[in-house]
Amino acid sequence: MALRQVRTIGDEILYKKCKPVKEMTPRIAQLIEDMFETMYENNGVGLAAPQVGILRQIVVIDVEDGSQYLLINPEIIETEGSQTGQEGCLSVPGKAGIVTRPERVRVRALDENMEEFILEAEGMLARAVCHECDHLNGELYVSLVEGELKNVEDMEEEEA
Ligand code: NI
Repeated sequence: MALRQVRTIGDEILYKKCKPVKEMTPRIAQLIEDMFETMYENNGVGLAAPQVGILRQIVVIDVEDGSQYLLINPEIIETEGSQTGQEGCLSVPGKAGIVTRPERVRVRALDENMEEFILEAEGMLARAVCHECDHLNGELYVSLVEGELKNVEDMEEEEA
């Protein structure tokens, strides 16, 4: 296990499209382990491979609902409803903004054995799935923010 460096906004790799994973290899398995470790170390709820400099369609998510999610080659196949709320990203440190996302998504992906499954996600998990899948397409949430991108510190002051 090893921590990987998280790429931040402005790094060109974050704006590129990722390629699908064709087969599980020791290298990919190690990457997935490292992605989970890196996400937890940085107190994130999701991480996509390009954020650690790898242009592959791999996403890890843990929104503290008791499950760890690994999505390989994910594809959102259905969305429903909408939710508007605060979002942040490990690649945009110290910032947050309001983004509208679907309330529910169905996503088709491969698991660690490269077997297909369908994940039905809602609420925060649906938000995380959309955010991370955007990363695989080279898109950051900042382009979706309604109003201003804010400093997290300022927001905390506003709340206090
Ligand atoms: Ni992100």
